[in-house]
Amino acid sequence: MSNFPRSILLVCLGNICRSPTAHAVLQQMAQTKGIPLEIDSAGTGDWHIGHPPDERATQTASTRGYDLSPLRARQVIIEDFYKYDLILAMDHSNLRNLKKLAPADATAQVELFLPYGDSNTQEVPDPYFGGTDGFTHVLDLIETASENILARYKG
Ligand code: 4NP
Repeated sequence: MSNFPRSILLVCLGNICRSPTAHAVLQQMAQTKGIPLEIDSAGTGDWHIGHPPDERATQTASTRGYDLSPLRARQVIIEDFYKYDLILAMDHSNLRNLKKLAPADATAQVELFLPYGDSNTQEVPDPYFGGTDGFTHVLDLIETASENILARYKG
């Protein structure tokens, strides 16, 4: 990311756990820092379209002051590949699916989210079938990567 993006779409599988968490965290941090950035999130799957985020994600994020309650799940659409400068996938499987979907003349750059983090981990693990600890771990990874993304902003 040599030029700072004007818009970022965050993508996971269901758009009810990881990507809405990243959506709220990145949006709120950008607002606090006065960085102009359009953020949205979406899922590669269609099971949860129209649903609010998972309660465990909402609850975990709220303990650190992030509000997921206005968000509703949607699926990635072809227009996203032209509308957003950057599309960041939470794991390799979603990255592969995004690359399959991407039109040949897509203008968005499609990459993994977590290389912006501090650890060597490449994927934000899917917390859906696990316990609440998983949601805290997801939030830790997302906060660090979001700080690092915004630190690249040069004004
Ligand atoms: P997410 O988590 O991709 O982080 O939103 C999941 C949510 C739902 C399902 C899988 C992952 N699901 O199988 O319904």
